[in-house]
Amino acid sequence: MQIRHEALADIDSIRALTYAAFKGHPHHEPGAEPTEHVIVDKLREAGALSLSLVAEVDGEIVGHIALSPVKIGEAEVGQHWFGLGPVSVLPAKQGKGVGSQLIRQALEMMQQQGAEGLVVMGDPSYYGRFGFKHDDTIVFPGIPQDYFMALAMSAQKPNGDVSYHPAFY
Ligand SMILES: CC(C)(COP(=O)(O)OP(=O)(O)OC[C@H]1O[C@@H](n2cnc3c(N)ncnc32)[C@H](O)[C@@H]1OP(=O)(O)O)[C@@H](O)C(=O)NCCC(=O)NCCS
Repeated sequence: MQIRHEALADIDSIRALTYAAFKGHPHHEPGAEPTEHVIVDKLREAGALSLSLVAEVDGEIVGHIALSPVKIGEAEVGQHWFGLGPVSVLPAKQGKGVGSQLIRQALEMMQQQGAEGLVVMGDPSYYGRFGFKHDDTIVFPGIPQDYFMALAMSAQKPNGDVSYHPAFY
């Protein structure tokens, strides 16, 4: 498996695999269409994909991870914190380590790019293994707080409510 930056030719595959990964996902209302593939497109259009990696096996794109800037608290500029996700693996390829490799590679690259920290929304038993943990001072209102986690990569830890890029809303 190769993990690499997205290329223009991957965009349709990324959209299709993100849709497939989130179709019928328990965090959507039953029968509702997923929105994550649209979020990725909108982030790209807005120039807000801070990192977009694909996992490729024998020429097939089987996984994708997106990162985008978040705002925490009142600061307007100078924050280098990012939201991790959506992360998507083709249903038939899940549970084989693709998601973990994408996440580990993304953490390393974001650190190299100077990120001060990352936040993620998701299952603590999954994201905990990569070092994410709930932080009382970095808050995403409206969801059970165990499901919102942070990973500081520097001593610059902001605090307050977190807003994602408008593409998420
Ligand atoms: C979540 C996802 C990205 C993980 O990728 P993956 O390649 O399937 O996961 P890996 O093979 O790296 O890791 C498998 C481990 O993660 C666990 N896991 C996978 N998805 C999980 C989830 N949603 N919640 C909790 N644990 C999960 C598996 O139980 C397994 O645990 P184990 O190592 O103890 O056996 C993938 O399953 C997926 O695309 N799911 C649908 C979309 C989604 O939920 N994305 C994340 C929310 S943004």
